[in-house]
Amino acid sequence: MNTVLLPGRSLLSWKDYSRDEIRALLDLSKEVKAQKARGERPQRFQGRTLAMIFEKRSTRTRCAFETAFGEEGGHPVFLSTQDIQLGAKESVEDTARVLGRMFDAIEFRGYKQSTVEILAEYSGVPVYNGLTDEFHPTQAIADIMTLEESFGDCSGKNLCFVGDGRNNVARSLMVICSKLGVHFTVVTPRTLFPDDGLRKLCAPFAAGTGARIVVTDDLDAVRSADAVYTDVWVSMGEESLRAERIKELGPYRVDAALMARTGRPDSIFLHCLPAVKGEEVTADVIDGERSRAWDQAENRKHTVKAIMLATIA
Ligand code: CP
Ligand code: NVA
Repeated sequence: MNTVLLPGRSLLSWKDYSRDEIRALLDLSKEVKAQKARGERPQRFQGRTLAMIFEKRSTRTRCAFETAFGEEGGHPVFLSTQDIQLGAKESVEDTARVLGRMFDAIEFRGYKQSTVEILAEYSGVPVYNGLTDEFHPTQAIADIMTLEESFGDCSGKNLCFVGDGRNNVARSLMVICSKLGVHFTVVTPRTLFPDDGLRKLCAPFAAGTGARIVVTDDLDAVRSADAVYTDVWVSMGEESLRAERIKELGPYRVDAALMARTGRPDSIFLHCLPAVKGEEVTADVIDGERSRAWDQAENRKHTVKAIMLATIA
């Protein structure tokens, strides 16, 4: 099976991908997961190297990339900003040029979206956005895969994000849902509405697929949701805003009563993790039978493996 569907492509945000390309990556992710379940261990990254740059902490993203690449014979190299010159003594452009001479691909997690864009422009190898302040695309594809494991083809399904509506996870979901025809509702206080620029960006994608994109502060909007999704109230890098966020988002905690407001006994709960139990979600919901958060975490690995297989020529 030729898995190199998108040779040389970077993944900086889903906005640059077509519906068919994302669908192909989802199908490959499912195949990769099935291969693993059958006990197959192909060595498709043998002789390959992956640079993994982290300005921010990570459990899932680091472990997903590192184990997915390593178990298929590749050599992943973890580079925290304590270890490399990036940002301290060397420009992003120069770091990109050097890494591009030594590695087959680069993963980056950090603050600015512009950093991951410059890495892609100057390295000449595929670059994957492992989370920036603006987007978290490798999370969003794992979320859609998890939604499909419960409900089949995601097109026409209702995904409802409740929480900080302008964070990287909500923003990435808006883009991928618009591209795939998933109805996406953001329920968030007015002060945390996603910016108009993003909504304008997504409008033509949604028009093309029939996705309904709604932003509201009304919790009744969870009615008939297939999935209710939340994320931490305080994202990495925004710790100084903690007190303000807790005040704004208090009414938006996902608890059993909010899940009941979907009116759907089969609706599922999603969370990208890490979770602050008792803050954005109660323990009974995230640890309860409607939660698919642990499947989502596992699917991070299958989806990033598929993305790397598709793009590393
Ligand atoms: N969901 C996610 O990206 O988790 P980490 O921050 O642990 O990588
Ligand atoms: N919005 C969260 C996502 C963590 C995976 C953050 O940026 O910290």
